[in-house]
Amino acid sequence: MCGIVGFNGYRQAAPILLEGLSKLEYRGYDSAGLAVRNGTADVELVKAKGRLRALYEKTNGGMAMEGTLGIGHTRWATHGEPSETNAHPHCSDDRNVVAVHNGIIENYKELQEKLLRNGYRFYSQTDTEVAVKLIDYYFKKYKGGPVDAIARAMMRIRGSYALAVLFKDCPDEIYVARKDSPMVIGLAGDETYMASDVPAILKYTRSVYYIGNREIARLGKGTAEFFNIDREPVEKEPTEIKWDAEAAEKGGFEHFMIKEIHEQPKAVRDTINSAVTEEGTIDLSALQFTDEMIRNISNIQIVACGSAYHVGVAGQYVFEDLCRIPVRVELASEFRYRNPILDPDTLVIIISQSGETADSLAALREAKERGVRTLGIVNVIGSSIAREADHVFYTMAGPEIAVATTKAYSAQLICIYLLAIRFAAVRGNITEEKAAEMIAELRTLPDKIERILEDKERIQWFAAKFSTARDIFFIGRGIDYAITLEGSLKMKEVSYIHSEAYAAGELKHGTISLVEDGTLVIGSLTQKELYEKTLSNMVECKSRGAYLMGLTNYGNYSIEDTADFTVYIPRTDPHYTTSLAVIPLQLLGYYLSVTKGLNVDKPRNLAKSVTVE
Ligand code: M6R
Repeated sequence: MCGIVGFNGYRQAAPILLEGLSKLEYRGYDSAGLAVRNGTADVELVKAKGRLRALYEKTNGGMAMEGTLGIGHTRWATHGEPSETNAHPHCSDDRNVVAVHNGIIENYKELQEKLLRNGYRFYSQTDTEVAVKLIDYYFKKYKGGPVDAIARAMMRIRGSYALAVLFKDCPDEIYVARKDSPMVIGLAGDETYMASDVPAILKYTRSVYYIGNREIARLGKGTAEFFNIDREPVEKEPTEIKWDAEAAEKGGFEHFMIKEIHEQPKAVRDTINSAVTEEGTIDLSALQFTDEMIRNISNIQIVACGSAYHVGVAGQYVFEDLCRIPVRVELASEFRYRNPILDPDTLVIIISQSGETADSLAALREAKERGVRTLGIVNVIGSSIAREADHVFYTMAGPEIAVATTKAYSAQLICIYLLAIRFAAVRGNITEEKAAEMIAELRTLPDKIERILEDKERIQWFAAKFSTARDIFFIGRGIDYAITLEGSLKMKEVSYIHSEAYAAGELKHGTISLVEDGTLVIGSLTQKELYEKTLSNMVECKSRGAYLMGLTNYGNYSIEDTADFTVYIPRTDPHYTTSLAVIPLQLLGYYLSVTKGLNVDKPRNLAKSVTVE
């Protein structure tokens, strides 16, 4: 995820900015840049692709950049590949406005068109350059000063942002603004520090101001003034940071995995907003996937590994039900050696968080060699799969640090839903009204995930009870089977407890012999038509001594007659239940691992990106 730092004082700024950025490296980035101001001289800009080391070397550790005021940025690509041109800071042509940005500007295309009509030119593929030039446009048009120009831009921008802005006319000031993207300001004597994340400024001060949503701040040397979007002054009291540096990296959470579990509402919302227009329709133009291509698809093959494969399993049910297109889901390591039968109108969808998984990449190449259309669902911009697939649908999860995927998995599911709804509407399987209804329901998912997270203490309590479990079985049918596959993998990889996911009807064909007194069996029952069937499979386990946990929708209270412990999830469209039911299962894996004192963020024998066969 991008990182922002800023400094305004009487010492050389660039070395301080580089040090601040180094504290944000753990968040992941692909390029970095600095803008430093030396009195009234023009802003000096230096950017470098790749590691911070490159920027460090280009600036001699910052010593080559004179000036006591500046802003810095580490970029995680969201719009446009990792490159020096796309790296921040961005500036207006005359360097009147220079800025760095975190977040996603959803209506950047529309704003860019407005600016093009007003004579602006664009050099990068970023939404940030649009924000910079929009501020410049309002600054020059209304001549109301920096706060006015930023406020006007904020009224036009849709999406999330944390912005740090320098204006040519204000050589001693940094301006910042934010909405739904964090920004913290610290004062220490006659120095002012600013960052997107606490670790970058912790060395200098623990007394910080949190700038509120849709607020603006003017930062002098050792001063900070705040304004609301109506340009009225806002009074603020500083807050004392009590976290140590390690806790600060995790935003106050104990581990990255739990932090990322909590970031899921945002990952889901950002991914929806990347493809759903203001009018509530799905726009796949960024993927360059036309309606004609959609109509021509004869069958879909989804290929992936691990959790991404589990997204594919859920996707199979969703696509087949909504679009009536035959779907096959396959592990990439199998697909690549199977000599698959692909007709010319097959669409191969490769799902991968990293975009670098060796088997998934090889499967993509195999499909391309056979001349079929390929679509990557990828989190990392500029990764191999993103570069090589014919079409790319980016998940907006931001960098994932914990080895066990959570938020990338959730974002991948959203891409699948959006594709399925669009395909179904274009092929006439569902009406436009039905599509609109499904999109409206999709938009409720972030809040519903939030509600499930509010109840996490119950799962924590339950995990403590089963921390010595030896085997755990997950059962479900249809989409619930896909949910259990992911629940079981999360359990295994972080808690080291043996677990298996079974299609509920399959249990009695062998595996039920492993169920004995006290064995935990977790049943997922989110599909109305399959509820009774799975319930009776749970009863079969109970009569062999199993302890039953039920995972079902609010309202299915009859489950309490059978299950020993139940977790309820909010009701939603049955195609989307994976997005909700997976949350308690991620929490369960996480809490079991923590209760057992394991390294939950880096489980043994696992790597975040599997680049070998
Ligand atoms: O980067 P990818 O999505 O291609 O990775 C695929 C799997 O290696 C990954 O999902 C793995 O199973 C995770 N550790 C699961 O949490």
